[in-house]
Amino acid sequence: MPEQPKPPAEAVVSPSRRRPVIAIDGPAGAGKSTLAAHLARRCGFLNLETGAMYRALALKAIEGDISFDEEAPLLALAEATRIDLQPQVEGNRVLLDGFDVSRRIRDADVTSAASRISVHPQLRAWMVQQQRALGVEGGVVMEGRDIGTAVFPDAEVKIFLDAAPEVRGNRRFRQVASGDARSAPAKPAETRDSDTQKAVLEEMRERDRRDRNRAESPLRPASDAVILDSTAMELAEVLARAEEIVLAHLPSA
Ligand code: C5P
Repeated sequence: MPEQPKPPAEAVVSPSRRRPVIAIDGPAGAGKSTLAAHLARRCGFLNLETGAMYRALALKAIEGDISFDEEAPLLALAEATRIDLQPQVEGNRVLLDGFDVSRRIRDADVTSAASRISVHPQLRAWMVQQQRALGVEGGVVMEGRDIGTAVFPDAEVKIFLDAAPEVRGNRRFRQVASGDARSAPAKPAETRDSDTQKAVLEEMRERDRRDRNRAESPLRPASDAVILDSTAMELAEVLARAEEIVLAHLPSA
């Protein structure tokens, strides 16, 4: 008898999943968190920020003085770590081994470390396993870099949110300038705005380079993702367009 074709290794077949998954992927500063929180509210879903898990483990590596470049000790660290994401109206409360690290993980040193540790394939496999467990029942908007390609390749809705690097850098800079920064370099009091702006853009380009060029699950849209380029769009337009995409795929949402 001919062998049955096997499903692709990374495919998650979830016959038990009763509610849909909405996957939001894209580069840093594209506005994924705002969009994911909005869609979660609209659909009555939980909003899960997978980047916060990479950040939480990176923080533990910083505190334990563990190299970001060596996979084995990082994997051992992960296996001895508990990371909980508690969805709130805006974003997630993040517990690292029971301690609330929601604010600390947004600091620039953690942002850079998260990007560096996320290149390791086995560490990513550990993260993906945790993330699949979190979303196994569906009813989630999951945000990250590889949700539509690796974590939930069978997600009912996949949006890849993009924008030109300068636009993403400028948006992030405005957050820094207004003191509402998430994961941007801190702005020392004596620094000129143009220098801060350059630093924000450079940090973002560096993270993009790493995310797009890593061997394991590089940042790229899934073949069946809808690409939403917000370069020339106001926030309200992005949210409205994303709602249309969700409705087209989930008429009952
Ligand atoms: O999304 P956020 O900026 O919080 O992610 C922090 C870092 O974690 C990213 O720069 C990226 O390198 C990594 N990440 C990832 N895969 C995800 C989510 C985040 O590699 N699904």
